[in-house]
Amino acid sequence: MDLGLLGRACVVTGASRGIGLATARLLCAEGASVLLVARDSGTLSRAAAELTAEGGRAIALAVDLTGADAGERVVTAAQEAFGPLYALVNCAGFTRARELDELTDDDWRAHWEIHVMASLHTMQAAAPGMAERGEGRIVNVTSSSARRPSATLDAAYSVTKAAQLSLSRVFADRYAARGVLVNAVAPGPVAGSMWLSEGGLADEIAGRRGISREEVLESTGARQPRGRMGTEDEVAAVIAFLCSARAANVAGAVWAVDGGSVPTVS
Ligand SMILES: NC(=O)c1ccc[n+]([C@@H]2O[C@H](COP(=O)([O-])OP(=O)(O)OC[C@H]3O[C@@H](n4cnc5c(N)ncnc54)[C@H](OP(=O)(O)O)[C@@H]3O)[C@@H](O)[C@H]2O)c1
Repeated sequence: MDLGLLGRACVVTGASRGIGLATARLLCAEGASVLLVARDSGTLSRAAAELTAEGGRAIALAVDLTGADAGERVVTAAQEAFGPLYALVNCAGFTRARELDELTDDDWRAHWEIHVMASLHTMQAAAPGMAERGEGRIVNVTSSSARRPSATLDAAYSVTKAAQLSLSRVFADRYAARGVLVNAVAPGPVAGSMWLSEGGLADEIAGRRGISREEVLESTGARQPRGRMGTEDEVAAVIAFLCSARAANVAGAVWAVDGGSVPTVS
């Protein structure tokens, strides 16, 4: 299936690793030109070099998306390099696994800044131009914990992911009539860098519960309907489709990529 992405200018935030990098790789494989965004310039440059070596057209912009002018900088850089922006993927994010009472106001603000304000600023910078051209795609990567707050991850993560979902719907409603299709993707737990990296979620939860990281990963997988965690590629495939010309009548949607989890009602 031709996704109609050949030569299209795309931005993927959080693209130095994980779901963002997997998404950038898929978009490149479809012939898109991709601006990769994250903070750490070393990891980001290596990611862009990897995609270029694979035959893709990828460049890197190291920027902290919580900066007030970051959205404008990202969109300007993409358009200077590749021409009019066609697709924006807001994938940058983070969480930890702290108890509710441990979270300070600064912790809550940090979640709010990256999941809500950064997504708001990139969309504010990207959507009006897309609307003028009559076409565009925006995908906001939220989380299954936006629908049912996680009992394990930072409460501020679940709450701000829910807010990001609402923000996504606001932009979908505002821009659909002008050809800019905004959607959200809600992954369940993914066996990727966020969980598996050294000091990542598996290690943090293991330390708190006094069990091994393997036990954490096994029990997290076992709780999922398919009996396993998801993969970065599985999430990336859904994001790439929503960026494609084929997703021509999808707007305001939340596509779960969680193996069929149903939020628990207690
Ligand atoms: N992994 C999961 O189980 C899972 C499940 C549901 C939803 N999600 C969501 O999916 C998205 C991607 O997750 P992932 O698993 O790919 O995480 P990851 O592997 O930890 O990657 C996060 C990316 O975001 C970037 N980033 C973080 N803060 C940033 C900032 N202030 N400015 C610019 N870039 C920033 C990171 O690079 P730098 O640190 O260099 O900035 C990195 O590229 C996140 O929004 C996450 O909440 C993940």
